[in-house]
Amino acid sequence: NKEIIAYEDIKTFTTRSEEFHPLNWYKQMLLNEPVSFNELSNTWHVFKYDDVKRVLSDYEHFSSEGNRTTISVKFSEDNLKENKVNFVTMDPPKNRKGRALLASAFTPRSLANWEPRIQQIATELLENLGDEELIDAVEGLSNPMPAMVMSDLLGIPSPDIAAFKNWVDILFLPYQKENQEAIEQKKSKAIQEFYTYLLPIIMQKRINPSDDIISDLIKAEVDGEKLTDQEIVEMTMAILGAGVETTSHMISTTFYSLLYDDVKLYSELRDNPDLIDAAVEEMLRYRFHMSRRDRTVKKDNQLLGVDLKKGDVVVAWMSAANMDEDMFNEPFNLNIHRPNNKKHLTFGNGPHFCLGAPLARLELKTILTAFLQRYTAIERVAAFNLENNLTDSATGQTLTSLPLKAYK
Ligand code: HEM
Repeated sequence: NKEIIAYEDIKTFTTRSEEFHPLNWYKQMLLNEPVSFNELSNTWHVFKYDDVKRVLSDYEHFSSEGNRTTISVKFSEDNLKENKVNFVTMDPPKNRKGRALLASAFTPRSLANWEPRIQQIATELLENLGDEELIDAVEGLSNPMPAMVMSDLLGIPSPDIAAFKNWVDILFLPYQKENQEAIEQKKSKAIQEFYTYLLPIIMQKRINPSDDIISDLIKAEVDGEKLTDQEIVEMTMAILGAGVETTSHMISTTFYSLLYDDVKLYSELRDNPDLIDAAVEEMLRYRFHMSRRDRTVKKDNQLLGVDLKKGDVVVAWMSAANMDEDMFNEPFNLNIHRPNNKKHLTFGNGPHFCLGAPLARLELKTILTAFLQRYTAIERVAAFNLENNLTDSATGQTLTSLPLKAYK
């Protein structure tokens, strides 16, 4: 397996809140050390928009196949084994088959089919909030929604959602230096249990396909090749690993932003629902604060203005690139009207661009639209203390609860 580079060797913040939105650090790095070397972790770091984009997309020089990584998500027992499912850690052209097989389940047609189901889930979650004025946006919306959407789209029976969510949570546990072994074992156990659970479901869908991602994966064929049961289990875990916690985080920070960044935005969106798409993009640019990916230098080069040697690890900070003033005007302000907010790099760039981006966008748009239709106004809760409501996660600090007052 890959060696995990400890995040705490790269950067530590004094408070959780600072890490939750590390704008000062990004500002400082963009200005003073846009390409820098970190001794402790023996890694390079890039922050500027053009450099980040290059590192993510120029696979001739920056490879996804290295032996060291900062990404702690595990979805397969054998990450280095070259099966179709590990396309995430393969460069083109090797990644093509696996990516194409999964992409066949994420087409615009699928998205159109999923829309009413996602809407149904959003309605259900809002109804569950009842008539209380005081609600918790994390507990009520952002935590449950992506797991419910993913299990519904995968075709997993709803009574099993709690167990399902538990496996996903374990797969996502962040590593720390001192507990790496223990976490590794926990993850292996969860992967094993998930496999045992999913296999009979797949076998059943082979006989009785229905309208869900697992059935699409069973049907998918590229160059005459299809996925085995084992590969479908791993693909499913890849989707869960990539698509649940990230999307929860995106929904949480959007509600946080509506309460704390720009208190006029809520009524602006209510008056102009056409602006919701732009708001979704600006939230992804401004509030998705811990998007970063690593690559390994494939051949010696000076493309970033420094001497990079084969085997060096380069971490590309997409969330910092989203704050580069050479790309975005007044980047440290939230502004849903900026003309180019969709240019953010939160979903990556190039051959590994996020396959779930349209789905993530749709989930945020759907819950936001339904919420705006139901409540005329929202308000902060004065006693809320950000520092006490954050926790470590694969996406950096994320909210554990977000109380707010919502008026009908
Ligand atoms: C890849 C971010 C939601 C599935 C990626 C990458 C990023 C990313 C940055 C690029 C990785 C790289 O270049 O190495 C996000 C964010 C999300 C999100 C910020 C939510 C706000 C989702 C969802 C799904 C998903 C909902 C699926 C249901 C994937 C897959 C890949 C990927 C399968 C691998 C693509 C490849 O390597 O070819 N995502 N993602 N993501 N994402 Fe997402």
